[in-house]
Amino acid sequence: MEEPEIRRRRDDDMKACVEALATVHEADRYPARWPADPGGWLTPAGLLDVWVAVDGADVLGHVALTGAGHAMAAEAGLPPDGLASVSRLFATASARRRGVAGALLATATTAAAAGGLRLVLEVEDGCGGAVALYERAGWRLVSSRSGDWTTADGRTALLHTYVAPAGATR
Ligand SMILES: CC(C)(COP(=O)(O)OP(=O)(O)OC[C@H]1O[C@@H](n2cnc3c(N)ncnc32)[C@H](O)[C@@H]1OP(=O)(O)O)[C@@H](O)C(=O)NCCC(=O)NCCS
Repeated sequence: MEEPEIRRRRDDDMKACVEALATVHEADRYPARWPADPGGWLTPAGLLDVWVAVDGADVLGHVALTGAGHAMAAEAGLPPDGLASVSRLFATASARRRGVAGALLATATTAAAAGGLRLVLEVEDGCGGAVALYERAGWRLVSSRSGDWTTADGRTALLHTYVAPAGATR
């Protein structure tokens, strides 16, 4: 299968990114609540870098790298310096199981390694596909905690913290 094209997100990608995110919200309730400012949601605080997977003018997927913050570092049991977090990762509903998210995660992982950063992330329990993706890439579950919202299927959110393998380049 052809590798998806991954490149840095540009300002003029935002409209296509928001449209892509809308397919994910519709299919998977990710994000759980549609944000008032979806472009802002795709540009979280502490953003370090951000990429898209594209096919011509279409955005097929998205991933951001942010600083990890003290709370996530504490969950991971690692010092916050030298940590970065994978966030806003998705593949559009019609582009699944073609390696889009895997390629985005590999890009973020390579960039983090180049900057000497160890990766962590949080994933909600209902995101089974994402958990499978991370575990296949060698990420390790280090802690779980309740979130402060209710999922679309009426559960209290359960957030899992994963840590990338040390020295991972993919
Ligand atoms: C999770 C998600 C990002 C995966 O995107 P994707 O582009 O389809 O993933 P890939 O094709 O790169 O999958 C790579 C591997 O991950 C695993 N995987 C991915 N999705 C899976 C699923 N739904 N069920 C089981 N395993 C899955 C498989 O091992 C897969 O390899 P394979 O297809 O050869 O079996 C996508 O389903 C999505 O956007 N979900 C909603 C948003 C979300 O949960 N984001 C993560 C928030 S933390």
